[in-house]
Amino acid sequence: MIKKTIVQKPFQIIIFGASGDLASLMLFPAIYNLYAQKRLPENFQIIGYGRTKLTRNQFQKIFHQSIVKKYGQNPYKLTQLIDHLYFFSGPYDDLKSYENLNQFCKKLAGTEKVDQVAYFSVPPVVFADLIVNLSKTIKNSNNKLKLVIEKPFGTSEKTAQELVKILGKHFDQRNIYMLDHYLGKIPVQSIIQLRMENNIINQLLNGDLISNIQLTAFETADIGQRIGYFEHTGIIRDMLQSHLLQILSLITMDIPNHPNRNSLEREKYALLSAVHFSGKKDDLVIGQYQGYQKLRGVKKNSKTDTFAAVKLSIDRRQWFDVPIFMRAGKKLGQTISRVVIEFKTMPFQNHNCAVNKLIFEMKPAEKIELILYKDAKHSKSLTKMGGTVSLAHNLACVGDECLTEYATLILDILNGKKDYFLSINEVLASWKITDDIMKTKNRSDLLNYKGGSEGPKSQYRLTKKENFYWYES
Ligand SMILES: NC(=O)c1ccc[n+]([C@@H]2O[C@H](COP(=O)([O-])OP(=O)(O)OC[C@H]3O[C@@H](n4cnc5c(N)ncnc54)[C@H](OP(=O)(O)O)[C@@H]3O)[C@@H](O)[C@H]2O)c1
Repeated sequence: MIKKTIVQKPFQIIIFGASGDLASLMLFPAIYNLYAQKRLPENFQIIGYGRTKLTRNQFQKIFHQSIVKKYGQNPYKLTQLIDHLYFFSGPYDDLKSYENLNQFCKKLAGTEKVDQVAYFSVPPVVFADLIVNLSKTIKNSNNKLKLVIEKPFGTSEKTAQELVKILGKHFDQRNIYMLDHYLGKIPVQSIIQLRMENNIINQLLNGDLISNIQLTAFETADIGQRIGYFEHTGIIRDMLQSHLLQILSLITMDIPNHPNRNSLEREKYALLSAVHFSGKKDDLVIGQYQGYQKLRGVKKNSKTDTFAAVKLSIDRRQWFDVPIFMRAGKKLGQTISRVVIEFKTMPFQNHNCAVNKLIFEMKPAEKIELILYKDAKHSKSLTKMGGTVSLAHNLACVGDECLTEYATLILDILNGKKDYFLSINEVLASWKITDDIMKTKNRSDLLNYKGGSEGPKSQYRLTKKENFYWYES
């Protein structure tokens, strides 16, 4: 039996912005998930922080509601977990408030030495105040204070660089956890694990054999409760900037020479720094679903993109003529999150015939699949077998021991494991690509699309030369 990973040392997690959406939707359920699976030690405290004036009791109620919403009525052990929760109200730009928070945390810890984590669940505009004030207070008492910063880290390469500068002045890189929750997904982690353990997959992930790569993240859901965050972010910065570029790097990077974080980081960065957007208007399609502007919190005539499709290339010998297509959108006809790698056909094959594919799917299924084709007309057997031969394997975690992606990553943070977090170099390289896309976005038409459709134009073009879908310009 595999021994489950647990946290042994006492800890405190201070969630800044604990009154917000991310905390209720993701962080509270993740903490509950870890607690219900007995992965947390006896001594720990979760301290919510925000400008909102909440009593401890009100905060506990919000936490309770979030868990009931996700796990149903009477979740196992919730009452005991609620006892570990506290709330501290204060502004983000007032040093005195952090000094008081520090005293509050010390009192809660008592004589015990505890690991401390500051989780930034606030919009990026607050990050600088948090970094400076934390460094002068809690970090002064605990040099190992860990910071967790949610993607998007900044809003552009320039703002990300400014943050890097402030961070570098006040905190050691080893204590900074830059979090992209996609890296907590089991199928995404499986891409690295399968590549590290099966060289046969690396032989297939060779640009000389591949005609194109398509990364798709479509959702039927609309922006819903996330409007405060989404309206100033948009789909390019929300989905492409980190989630999809990270997955692309895991698929197309050189396999690291060593199975450690430094080697992995180096290869991911090398790949991301070679990804290139042409800047051509034809290589970008952006859209907004009908009715988006009527949502509360959305500006009139908002230009926020809720759909984007972009064509990229990789400036590396083996990838330079393999087009990369990324597509992401909200309120579409289906929920899909997957990477399809299409292989080249052989010279004697008709270009319009079916092609072999390797698929990594995160949604709706969690699986890896190799698709081979068998043309019935070539079959000599009595049972004329034709169509698809699919070699698929489920990558989903099954059973009571499964963790949500946030729970997986919070467990890693508490145990000091950084394999599935972003490095500063990767973040900056991703912003460089995103900034180039955003420049073209500002010159492009924002196309309207109907909720439940396939995006701005249902008219796809299947080119003669290559078997990929793209939009007619
Ligand atoms: N929600 C998502 O799905 C999602 C996904 C990926 C990443 N993220 C990132 O996660 C973080 C939190 O997201 P969220 O959706 O929870 O954000 P949010 O609801 O907009 O904000 C979280 C909390 O931060 C405080 N806050 C909001 N705007 C502020 C401002 N202008 N100045 C100072 N404080 C402000 C508020 O708490 P108080 O008023 O109580 O202080 C608010 O409850 C952000 O960095 C976001 O970019 C979110």
